[in-house]
Amino acid sequence: MLNGKHIILGITGSIAAYKAAMLCRLLVKEGAEVRVIMTPLAKQFITPLTMATLSKHPILVEFFNPENGEWNSHVSLGEWADMLLIAPATANTMAKMTTGIADNLLLTTYLSARSKVAIAPAMDLDMYAHVTTQQNLKTLAERGVAIIEPGAGELASGLVGKGRMAEPEEIIEQVKAIFAAECKRTLSGKRYIVTAGATIEPIDPVRYITNHSTGKMGYAIAEELARRGAEVKLITGRTALPTPQGVERIDVLSAEDMYNATVKEWELADGAVMCAAVADYTPKSVADHKLKKSDDDLTIELCRTKDIAKELGSNKGNRTLVGFALETDNERANAEGKLQRKNLDFVVLNSLRDKGAGFGGDTNKITIIDNNSREEHPLMSKHDTAKVIVDKIERVTR
Ligand code: C5P
Repeated sequence: MLNGKHIILGITGSIAAYKAAMLCRLLVKEGAEVRVIMTPLAKQFITPLTMATLSKHPILVEFFNPENGEWNSHVSLGEWADMLLIAPATANTMAKMTTGIADNLLLTTYLSARSKVAIAPAMDLDMYAHVTTQQNLKTLAERGVAIIEPGAGELASGLVGKGRMAEPEEIIEQVKAIFAAECKRTLSGKRYIVTAGATIEPIDPVRYITNHSTGKMGYAIAEELARRGAEVKLITGRTALPTPQGVERIDVLSAEDMYNATVKEWELADGAVMCAAVADYTPKSVADHKLKKSDDDLTIELCRTKDIAKELGSNKGNRTLVGFALETDNERANAEGKLQRKNLDFVVLNSLRDKGAGFGGDTNKITIIDNNSREEHPLMSKHDTAKVIVDKIERVTR
């Protein structure tokens, strides 16, 4: 999987730098060509000799070699790389990455790199939890940097909590997943439906019931399917988003409109991704005039809407059907329930308990659940999340 891949391994000044030795060894064992860039402080934590021996190349620290003036070109390094992997990434380096400070070779290379960038943060639990660090992580993820989350456990300080750099084996798995998600044009001739955004259930000509969905995840999936050559119909509630290139957009308002449009398109589709946040209840009757307020409380009677995903699932044949589960508690059990009830091929779970997941933002953190497996993914941009989901669609499409 990593055969021939050019990977720059960036090492920053954290005690977890000792794990970079094993990480480097595993990358080389997987067939990757590795160049190591260390920040000046990183040299205090692990020796250049160790890293040079394991990577089979001299390590790079300074902008130029002080002995002979030879320039270490961050531009050529950035062009050479298929991935810049910074592990461990300190709070300091992450902060500099978000603001564009470029006071060492690793940071100038980051700014020049056109490749995928992944970071594995490592720090003390309070530094990790600090609002500044969390904000920086979110910003980087929104800009497309893959965040390989730290684990919880004993830290160098003796405290116990979240901040330990992910283990080298786990980092390797995530690096492979990122390469696997890179784009191929593999869905030409396939027709997909994507539902997205929130539905609007009118109460009277002025008021309505809706939810916080912005449609970003569904739009990113529609875009990715189209990029891989599929013919895509995006059935969408009201959003502020532009129509993705190459996608046919069908605007709807209520759950019932969405149901009718989706069931109609399903006849000719090869698959559907049900990303919309569809209202479960709608007012039993819609007043034809603005309801006047009085001093009494008001009760609005609601009735159930039809479940679109379930309807498609009842008539699925060997087509692909993907659902979403946005949960606040009992996440896995609820997601597995949906998988069965709606006859889905897989369900994409995001928990509102995960920072950076769910409504509105530009990032997501998902677990993909099917009948046989559960794949957890790191915090990623919604764009990268869409790639991972479409990869899975390709794998399950018969
Ligand atoms: O049952 P629940 O609403 O939690 O399930 C979420 C999944 O089902 C999502 O994929 C959503 O798009 C889909 N759904 C639907 N029609 C509904 C309700 C949910 O397609 N009426």
